Parts: sequence; C-alpha cells; structure tokens
Amino acid sequence: MAIFVPFCFFYNSIQLLTNISHMERITVVGAGNVGATCANVIAHKDLAREVVLVDVKEGLAEGKALDIWQTSSINNFNTRVVGVTNNYLRTKGSNVVVITSGVPRKPGMSRDDLIKTNAVIVKEVTERIVKYSPDAIIIIVSNPLDVMTYCAFLASNKPPHKVFGMAGILDTGRYRAFIAEALNVSPKDILSLSLGGHGDTMVPLPRYTSVNGIPIHELLAPEEIDKIVERTKFGGGELVNLMGTSAWYAPGAAAAQMVEAIVDDQKRIFPCCAYLQGEYGLKNIYMGVPVKLGKNGIDQIIELQLNEEEKKMVQESANSVKKSMKALDELKLFK
Ligand code: LAC
Repeated sequence: MAIFVPFCFFYNSIQLLTNISHMERITVVGAGNVGATCANVIAHKDLAREVVLVDVKEGLAEGKALDIWQTSSINNFNTRVVGVTNNYLRTKGSNVVVITSGVPRKPGMSRDDLIKTNAVIVKEVTERIVKYSPDAIIIIVSNPLDVMTYCAFLASNKPPHKVFGMAGILDTGRYRAFIAEALNVSPKDILSLSLGGHGDTMVPLPRYTSVNGIPIHELLAPEEIDKIVERTKFGGGELVNLMGTSAWYAPGAAAAQMVEAIVDDQKRIFPCCAYLQGEYGLKNIYMGVPVKLGKNGIDQIIELQLNEEEKKMVQESANSVKKSMKALDELKLFK
C-alpha cells in the first residue's frame, strides 16, 4: 500500500502532463469514407483510449478499424481502434458519438434528396446509441445536416446542448482554403465564420473574416471575395461533381476537431449546427451558428451583431432549413 499510493499519484500526474487517453471511448457510426476518416483523425490525435467504429455492412468497420489500428506504430498513437457490425453493445458507455450513417449524394442530387432515406437510418442509430450510452454527446454528420441533427435530437430525448451537428467547420474550412490560396498565405492564419444551414443558402461572413486580424476587405477586392463566397456555398457540390460521391477528408477532420474540443474541454468557438431557441430571432430550428464547445457539449451560443443584409441571408437560410424540417415532420417518424 505504501508503494501503491505514490504510484497512483505519479501515474495521474503523468496522465495530466501528457494529456493522453482523455476519454474512455468514442464511437463513430458509419464506416464509410467520412466515418473512417473521422475515426482515423481521432486515433491519430490520441483522443481516447478506444474508438469503436460501427457499420451495418458485415466486415466493413472491422476491416477499416484494423487498417487504422495497424498505423498506430507507424504514426505513434495509442488509441485502440476496433470495428463492429451493428453491435451497439460494444459501444456501451461512449463519451462522444459521431453519427455519419446514411447514403451520400450522387451528382445531380441535392442534400435534401436524402431526407427520407437518411432520417430512418439516423433515427434508428440514435435510439440504439442512447440505449447504451445515455450520457454521450452526439455529433451528427449525416446529410441533410441540419434536419438530420434535428432528427437525432427528437430520437435522443436529450437536451440540445448534447446533440448538435458538424458543418460550419467544414464550410469555413473550404472558405479558408480558398482565401489562403488567393492570398498565397497559410490557411492557419485565416479566421472566419459561417452561419446558416449546410446547403446552398449557407452564409459565409466576410465581415467576420480576417488574416490573423487583418480584415479580409483590406487584402482582397470585393469581387474576389464574392467569388470565394460563391465557391464555398457550392463547395460540397464541386467535389460531388469531381468524384461522383461526396467529400470525406474535410468532413471527417471537421467532426474530429469538434470531438477534440469536447474531449479536452477546450472552450473553442466554432460554427456548429445548434438548436436555436430565440437566438438570431429564430426558434425551434437547428442551424449553423458560432458556439463554445467544451466537455458538456455546447456551453454557449454566440449571437453576432449582424447587419441588415446578413440578417436577410440568415433568414433565407433558416427558411430553407425549415422547409426540410417540415419534410421530416411529414414523414411522421416521431409521434
Ligand atoms: C459536403 C457534404 C459532406 O459538404 O455535405 O461535402
């Protein structure tokens, strides 16, 4: 005992210092391109003792998890990555769950074309997750993002600060990459925000965009900024057209960044899909807004002082999200 106590103390101190194994278990549902990329980034960052990858397709999650795990000695991480076919018991007690399940877009499809198919999937997955991990924070990545997050919220019976969606980090990731390219500067120095739904009506905000504090308007002409904003809005579609299916590296990495902010209680400010209850003059709607992320999920929704033009664009985006939410309601999946 005399040895045991100091050892425990020593071990805890080492854990604090090295900040490893912050969480016991993180689950990623859907071992498609986005889910597998997300699990891969989470493992590389050593964010948990274990990542469980789940899929409906026999062997897919097992195979991808094994492949990722076999990079651990090469890429120097400890996070154990395991894959299972539909075995939610294996996800029991997860601290954070990322849901990527559903079918992706094909060329010519809008994200809204996926509502019917993906709502049934997201509802079932969320219910099964909550059964085994009632305290988990749930991050939705499935499309159409805003309405699928709403669907998961309804299916989960959890408070909205624990159920939210990824999209703003992806959208601003694209926006920041385009700006970095136009200015030939590091993408790390581009600070930006985007509001609204994850669709063609999204609202990237040049007025809240800077290169390490230098307002973007001082560095780029208005028409160049407009071009970048337009390209950002259709950034997902650009990739669907190139590849015949939707993107995965940036969506997977964006979801993993949200996991990291939660796991490390970072209090980072990111645009995320959150449930609005009066903020921005909107009620009972899931939509992209800046939030503070920490260990309890969304700590705070931040309201910006928008000008009239920005307000109008946000309202248009909200109208489009409301339309998708109505389409979900009409499916009558929830009593
Ligand atoms: C995209 C999809 C994942 O924007 O929504 O690439």
